[in-house]
Amino acid sequence: RDPAPRWDLRPGRPNLSAFPRAAWLAATRRALHRAPMTAFDYTAESGAAELRETLAAYLARSRGVIADPARILVCSGFSHAIAILARVLHARGADEVAFENPSLHIYRNIAAANGPRVVGVPVDDDGITVSSLDSPAVVVTPAHQYPLGVTLAPGRRAELTRWAEETGAVVIEDDYDGEFRFDHQQVGALQALAPERVVYVGTTSKTLAPSLRLGWMVLPRFLVEPVRTALAESGARPALLDQLAMAELIESGAYDQHIRRCRIEYRSRRDKLLAALPDSVLPQGISAGLHLVLQFPGEVPKEMEVLAACRRRAIGLEGISGYWIGEPQREGLIIGYGAAAKHAFGGATQALREAIFEVT
Ligand SMILES: Cc1ncc(COP(=O)(O)O)c(C=O)c1O
Repeated sequence: RDPAPRWDLRPGRPNLSAFPRAAWLAATRRALHRAPMTAFDYTAESGAAELRETLAAYLARSRGVIADPARILVCSGFSHAIAILARVLHARGADEVAFENPSLHIYRNIAAANGPRVVGVPVDDDGITVSSLDSPAVVVTPAHQYPLGVTLAPGRRAELTRWAEETGAVVIEDDYDGEFRFDHQQVGALQALAPERVVYVGTTSKTLAPSLRLGWMVLPRFLVEPVRTALAESGARPALLDQLAMAELIESGAYDQHIRRCRIEYRSRRDKLLAALPDSVLPQGISAGLHLVLQFPGEVPKEMEVLAACRRRAIGLEGISGYWIGEPQREGLIIGYGAAAKHAFGGATQALREAIFEVT
């Protein structure tokens, strides 16, 4: 990871200074107090029973996931999940995994490194174009497409799960920021429409901290055993103490409280960012998550010029053209409003406004 820029508008990061240190400390203290001696032994690859039970209830109420502890496996975030799932699906005959185009190259690379070929499927304003799918597995971000920020339209959600049921394909739902929707149109997990075809993957990387490396998969029953075996073979799993602390954090209500607080903060940052932007740019995407995409009508100026103007002002952000497999279909900026420290956010939006004025 690069050092933080002066004005940090890099996408994909939560506000690290908001980590609930006191609540995590209290949860760890309670977990340590209660943990039996066996908690310090080699641990089960499926994850702590306490966390899987707590997650089953939490995911059902917060995201509408159809989850029972027996089909939940704890992992080290989405990166770990996609590595394991790609390996398992490849071993079961899936020679190809489709990703949304555009999407993050790091996850495509992890999938490809574990066996299957990776292909891209176009995304439009309603999300992934299901009619273009022709692979035995697909990775989607239905709540909030990354990077474009659209949501998978209701008709497409039904079409995607119908397609999976008819073809026997597996859908991997990357619910990386599903807790953060600001416009009261909460859309539940896709997994609830087809729990035997959709693998739901959640992570603490946006709600708590990326360094925790803590996430979970809710699996179709036929995949539980193969994925459990692959997890064991990967030799990697999050520390049991962190899993027990996470279970305590959720059980105590402190996790919900933290998410509520973050939701208010991110929503207000998004509003401030939108208010600071000149009329010459077009913000894209639903009111959710930690990022938005900016496009320049008529694609003038070029993405490169805006990025150069931002670099001159020590603003850290990204262009969107690098997210495509093959020829980029659009140019623009992807801006993260989560990462900056609270006191620096106003300065960062002002610096961005000046950079855009300079080139438009
Ligand atoms: C699209 C997307 N998926 C998943 C994740 C989370 O990945 P992990 O749980 O490995 O940190 C991120 C985080 O940046 C993301 O942007």
